[in-house]
Amino acid sequence: MKGTPLTEKTWKYICDLVPAEDDFLRQLNVEALEQEIPAIQISPDQVSFLQFFLRAIQARHVLEIGSLAGYSTITMARALPDEGQLFALEREPEYSFFIRKKVKEAGLENVVTVHTGEALETLETQEFPELDFVFIDADKMNYKRYLDLTVPMLRKGGVVCGDNALAWGMIADTDVPADREDVLGMQEFNAAMAARDDLACSMVPLGDGMFMGVKL
Ligand code: DHB
Ligand code: MG
Repeated sequence: MKGTPLTEKTWKYICDLVPAEDDFLRQLNVEALEQEIPAIQISPDQVSFLQFFLRAIQARHVLEIGSLAGYSTITMARALPDEGQLFALEREPEYSFFIRKKVKEAGLENVVTVHTGEALETLETQEFPELDFVFIDADKMNYKRYLDLTVPMLRKGGVVCGDNALAWGMIADTDVPADREDVLGMQEFNAAMAARDDLACSMVPLGDGMFMGVKL
């Protein structure tokens, strides 16, 4: 059995059933567009799933690689306890400025710390506490490197999650052109993650797919 296809109608039903995208997140998207930040945020059904999941594992320490406008940052920070910490890694200074502004407006400045710069460098130079959850949503060619650098930082039972794991519908393609480094990067990432014997993995086909692995 292949499961039920996600039609537009069913998708809308899911989003309405658990309305996780509130006015604040909608307004964030409007302002992000005005600032010419690409509209490639996670989908509303990913919002409710991530919040549900972080609460289920009682996450306190979250690392996000690639925060863009802070939509998923604020989504996840809202699901953490008061003493929780979310480390948001973002390469672009202008995006980081925007994220900090929205985080402050959301009253989450005690939870979220934005680290501006190349994530590979931040991961090498910064100390982070033991992590409960890692959300990878940055440059696709480096996903495997982010995976290798962050799995050691996870607690046992902690989870790593790669966004865009279905690569815009091209993940199963065998004739990916060489200039689609993003699709090739996702294929490499999924295969590397599935092959690790320190992770138990599952594909969650919400949005553009999230490949998730729990540390054994
Ligand atoms: C796109 C979507 C994403 O979620 C992402 O992380 C990067 C790019 C896109 O649709 O181009
Ligand atoms: Mg993404």
